[in-house]
Amino acid sequence: MFIGDVFGTPGLRAVRHYLEGHRGDVDLVVANGENAAGGFGINRKQVEQLWSWGVDVVTLGNHTWDQSDVVEALETSTRIVRPANYPVGTPGLGFTTVQSASGERLTVGQVMGRVFMDPLEDPFAAADAIVEATPAGQALLIDAHAEATSEKKALGYHLQGRASAVIGTHTHVQTADEGVHGGTAYITDVGMSGVQHSAIGMQFEQVHARFTTRRPHRYRPAAGAATVCGVLLDLDGRRARAIERFQWHERELDPTVAAA
Ligand SMILES: [Fe+2]
Repeated sequence: MFIGDVFGTPGLRAVRHYLEGHRGDVDLVVANGENAAGGFGINRKQVEQLWSWGVDVVTLGNHTWDQSDVVEALETSTRIVRPANYPVGTPGLGFTTVQSASGERLTVGQVMGRVFMDPLEDPFAAADAIVEATPAGQALLIDAHAEATSEKKALGYHLQGRASAVIGTHTHVQTADEGVHGGTAYITDVGMSGVQHSAIGMQFEQVHARFTTRRPHRYRPAAGAATVCGVLLDLDGRRARAIERFQWHERELDPTVAAA
């Protein structure tokens, strides 16, 4: 299972509730957590919460460094990865390998796009290095954290037949183009786990004001019922058999959910 960008308190709450009922359905869970701290990074406590709820690997992205105490997790854990195409010497891992209770091994790597984003090292070459470092036949998932659809599509094509899955993150809107191509499961964006009726996780008012006044306004995370967006992957080693996307909605009026 791959869970899309967990945004703020509503996203964390929904993921916890969703995994309480569904963690047992799958061998391994990967979640992009880089927006957990109100949209800006993830702190150490939130990383540990995701792990405790059954997430095996947390992936990050352009907001990796927003919360300073995440660096400790990056330097001490093999269950969190940041984009592999940061400069040599950057704290943390660009890919890691985890094992399920049933003995299945999965390498999880992340690369970040460069179109409309920070100009990092080449994500295509970084992905190649992850492929080369992963034992033949072992399952390999790449989180393609990028803004531009074309760059993510090209990364999927680049890794076709060489990665088990290329899962797009960052844009926060789930796309309907999931499929298996040459043995590689692909989706341009898995979507955000958070409040969907929002400006990709933030309250509309300040984002709207920024667009209409052209002046800075402090963003506030949206509140309310959240949706978990993700995909389920059926992998046979390096080859994918199937990809299925899902959205799980919190019940709007459930007081126990709203109060959590
Ligand atoms: Fe991002």
